[in-house]
Amino acid sequence: MDYRKTDLEHMWHPYTDIQTLEQTDFPVIQSAEGVRLRDTQGKEYLDGISSWWCVNLGHSHPHIVESVVRQAAKLQHSITGGMSHTGVIRLSKMLLNIAPAGLNRVYYASDGASSVEAAVRMAIQYWWNLGLPEKKNIISLEGAYHGDTLGAVGLGFLPKFHKPIQHVVNRSLQAPAPHCFHCPYADNCSLQCFRGMEELLRENADTTAAVIVEPVCQGAAGIRIYPPEYVAKLRKLCTELNILLVADEIAVGFGRTGAMFASDLAEIQPDLMVVGKSLTGGYLPMSAVVATDEVYDSFRQDNGRDRTFYHGHTFSGNPLAAAAAIAALEVFENDNILEHSRVSAELMKNAFMKFGGIPGVHRSTSLGYMSALEISDQAGGRNTAAVVAASALEMGLFIRPLGAVVYLWPPLITQKSDMEEMLGIFGNCLKHSLEDGMC
Ligand SMILES: Cc1ncc(COP(=O)(O)O)c(C=O)c1O
Repeated sequence: MDYRKTDLEHMWHPYTDIQTLEQTDFPVIQSAEGVRLRDTQGKEYLDGISSWWCVNLGHSHPHIVESVVRQAAKLQHSITGGMSHTGVIRLSKMLLNIAPAGLNRVYYASDGASSVEAAVRMAIQYWWNLGLPEKKNIISLEGAYHGDTLGAVGLGFLPKFHKPIQHVVNRSLQAPAPHCFHCPYADNCSLQCFRGMEELLRENADTTAAVIVEPVCQGAAGIRIYPPEYVAKLRKLCTELNILLVADEIAVGFGRTGAMFASDLAEIQPDLMVVGKSLTGGYLPMSAVVATDEVYDSFRQDNGRDRTFYHGHTFSGNPLAAAAAIAALEVFENDNILEHSRVSAELMKNAFMKFGGIPGVHRSTSLGYMSALEISDQAGGRNTAAVVAASALEMGLFIRPLGAVVYLWPPLITQKSDMEEMLGIFGNCLKHSLEDGMC
């Protein structure tokens, strides 16, 4: 089969400009192992973004693969409404063992956006359950991204993407974001940027159900890493004002920040924590809302008053996905992933500090296992970040820029030699693209 031709005849790709795709000789991936993707031509690519930020433990990990294969022969689907199955019970226990203290209930959804929807509905209904239906609004951060269903789009509205549907989107209030790349107080950070959030929360406390944030890094906005202390301040204020705090750890959960969860880095306990992507090692779609007993218990019948959470998904807690997630969590613990990932993370951080000195690179930032640069928009009349990505792909490194931000977000299991290879290609392509628009 001519895969590329058939793809262009029949596929509809997410977040992809059709014209650009048709003019691109994009790879068609056939298999992958560890940090390497292999296309139908046999060409290999280092996976610089963990295949959309989820394959934290690398591709084809034998333990995860075996676990899914074993499960596939035993139980493929089992309803979780009013019933349960062994896999999802084991997984819940394992997840709660590593989740921030205070979280004791797991609700399963399918992908990131569906778990964000569930968390927002839980937060709104929580206050309704308590007889405070006026606390119904959600506050998010400017530049937030929480997924692409209509409710989630309302939390992270971006005119560039959402203009055609803006008339049907219920937009949340947004607080100014802690944008460290463009901080007016950069030399003397005492979190002055928190003031905007504080004012908004104080003004709207009576009508606000929850604040949702991507703790310590607004990923899709351009890997905007910000201080954990901001999240700690937010936790404190939410408690003071009786507002729930939802930590969207879909991108940063499971080791990306150097801690298991970004909430751990900030030393906070969210009321609701949302996880997805790497929960299954990125192998199968599964997401979850992890909640406190306080939130959960408010959904019990109250003197005959029905407070059930009427919300669910066919694949909630799917046994195959649960088997992948159990195996992924086992790999995390048995292989001591957090500890071992520090060596390559340090290499990446040091290299990005050096890249920060290349003319045309405006800013460099790193945290845990993610490093990003903001670079000049244009070089030789072309979008520089796109040129860097195209030339890196040519050289065998797959990355995907965000506006003028180029970054690495590789699997946490990337060995020193693979990391050096990634950084070598990344640095060369960056330098050459900024110098003359070509690698
Ligand atoms: C912070 C955050 N929340 C939610 C989502 C949506 O997840 P999904 O694409 O699985 O729906 C993403 C996806 O990138 C994300 O980064």
